[in-house]
Parts: sequence; C-alpha cells; structure tokens
Amino acid sequence: MSGRQMVPPVFAANWKLNHGPSDARAFLQRFLALVPRQHDRTLLLFPSALAVGAVVEALRDRPDIQVGVQNVHTEAQGAFTGENSVQQARDVGARVVLVGHSERRQLFGETDADTARKVALVVQARLVPLLCVGETLAEREGGLVEAVVQRQLEAGVSLLDDAQAAGLLVAYEPVWAIGTGRTATPEDAGDVHSLLRRLLSDRLGERVASGIPLLYGGSVNRGNVQALLAAPNVNGVLVGGASLDPDGWASIVRS
Ligand code: 13P
Repeated sequence: MSGRQMVPPVFAANWKLNHGPSDARAFLQRFLALVPRQHDRTLLLFPSALAVGAVVEALRDRPDIQVGVQNVHTEAQGAFTGENSVQQARDVGARVVLVGHSERRQLFGETDADTARKVALVVQARLVPLLCVGETLAEREGGLVEAVVQRQLEAGVSLLDDAQAAGLLVAYEPVWAIGTGRTATPEDAGDVHSLLRRLLSDRLGERVASGIPLLYGGSVNRGNVQALLAAPNVNGVLVGGASLDPDGWASIVRS
C-alpha cells in the first residue's frame, strides 16, 4: 500500500522474575550457539534488572540483540529505596524499557499517569519505550476492550510530542492471556492491533504510524507464533514463559 513502511518483525523476551546473572549467562551461551546474527528481525531481551549487566556483557559481539529493563521509576533520582532510574538503565547498557506491563498495573498499582511519566522519562533519556496495553477478562466480557486499550495508549503517549511518539513500540497483552495458556485468536489480536494502528494514525499520520512496531503478548509459544505474526498489524511478539528456555526461544525467534 502506498506510503506504508515495512516493520521488521520483533521478537521480545520478558523474563520477569526469572534468570539471575548466572542463569542468564548460561541461557545466552546456548542461545547464541543456536541463533546466528539476525539481519531481518529485531531481537529484544528483558532480563531482571540485576541480570542486565551480565546480559549486556554476554551480548557484546551481538549488536543484533538489544537489551531492555522491565520497569523504571517515575522519578529520575532521589530517596526511592529499591527502585531503578532511567539513567541507571541507560548506564548499565539497556536500550529499551517496558512500561505499563499488566503485572505492573495489576500487582503494583501502576496508573495511566505513572505510565505517561515513565514513557516521557524514557524518551528524555534517549531510550526506547515499549508501552504495554491490554484489557482484563472482566473488561473484555463487558465490551470494554476498545475503550481500555485506547485509554491506555493515549495516556501512555500523552506527554510526548509527535516526533517522540514516532519512536515508540507498543505491545498488546490481554491480561487474561498472560501466563494462562489461553491465547487471543489471530482474529482478536488483529482487531485490537488494527485499532491501535488507527489510533496512532489519527495522531501521527498513516506513514509514521505504519512504522511503529505493534507486538502481541500472552501465551505465545512455538505452536501459535506464526499464526499470530500473520494477523493484520501484528509486527512481533512479547513472550514470557516460552522465552525462558534457550532452545524453545531459539525456535520461536527463527519462525
Ligand atoms: P506469557 O508469555 O508467559 O503469557 O507472558 C506474556 C507476557 O506478559 C510478556 O510480557
């Protein structure tokens, strides 16, 4: 279609509270032996913050794999015991930051205002935000999918100017599909991704919006990844459980 950009597929692994530095090094030793340097796709790894340094070090010769953190604090610095800042993330070698993951929203009370602030801090630090949106089962059953996803997306980019918003990545992760073995159908994922693309086009224009990678997450595995990637406006996947084993993750990123 005229004016459309091609988005290389993105394969992102979110390790959540798994794999400390030792496990991460062992994982990469195996994974890098299985997966040679990639030129037609983007690979992202989100280890626990304590393992990011080890992962960056292990990937010194693999610039095709970018490392990210799973969260940052809403403030740049100060008396916030236990938190990590965007500058610290940058300093350790992270290039991408997950913001608004549903576990942050559901378990740690992260609000839309928090995600807006974090996205803005991430961009100011010249890192790339990967903003997560997605509805709960109750919201889906209540017919609120579009309203929830729209609210979360618009809030997430609300403090960015258009040029900054153009550098965003977005993940649609329906809460009911995360860690449950219950995946959205390619049709459901395609519907929400097409909505996200339309909302981004309304704000940024079709050409810019078409270059923003839209990832699907929620019980992605090697059996369903190809069908999900074939759905309209699905440009990649964000994977939890199925990214923890190097052989399994290697087979997914080669799909
Ligand atoms: P699962 O792949 O384990 O469902 O997790 C998805 C997710 O939350 C990735 O961020």
